[in-house]
Amino acid sequence: MNVLTIWIQRWVIAVSMACFMTFLPVDRLLADSPGENLYQKTCKKCHGKLGEGKESRSEPGKFKYPPINQPGTTELSTIISRYRAMQQDKLASKMEMKMAKAVRKLSDGDIEALVQFITAEPGL
Ligand code: HEC
Repeated sequence: MNVLTIWIQRWVIAVSMACFMTFLPVDRLLADSPGENLYQKTCKKCHGKLGEGKESRSEPGKFKYPPINQPGTTELSTIISRYRAMQQDKLASKMEMKMAKAVRKLSDGDIEALVQFITAEPGL
């Protein structure tokens, strides 16, 4: 292998690494608050990256998972704790149970951290 090929190879590797790093969502990897970490781990898959919720595929316009980034969510921690208590509730609906299961393991402190993150983040 001549020197030129080696340089070209190095160059290609360097450029692809730079691209890779630019596109990596570094801010998400380095989630800096416990609330943000919890959100990514426990809530995002249903309520979306920015708390925008998820529309139902069979009934467009209706939400399968409600948005939680709306103004007026000051009662968030009460709402979340209420869902947490619903695991024992035989009358809870299927959707309520989904949400109840998702928050089942959260402590009061976890909920506090989550609410702080959700209400502080502009998109959330
Ligand atoms: C498995 C999917 C799922 C996960 C994961 C999940 N949720 Fe939910 N969430 C739901 C569903 C479904 C509802 C609506 C339940 C109902 O019909 O009452 C809901 C409702 C809510 C509501 C009430 C919204 C409103 O307008 O009434 C809040 C707030 C909420 N979730 C926050 C969270 C937070 C915070 C997390 C993470 C700790 C989370 N959810 C994780 C499915 C989920």
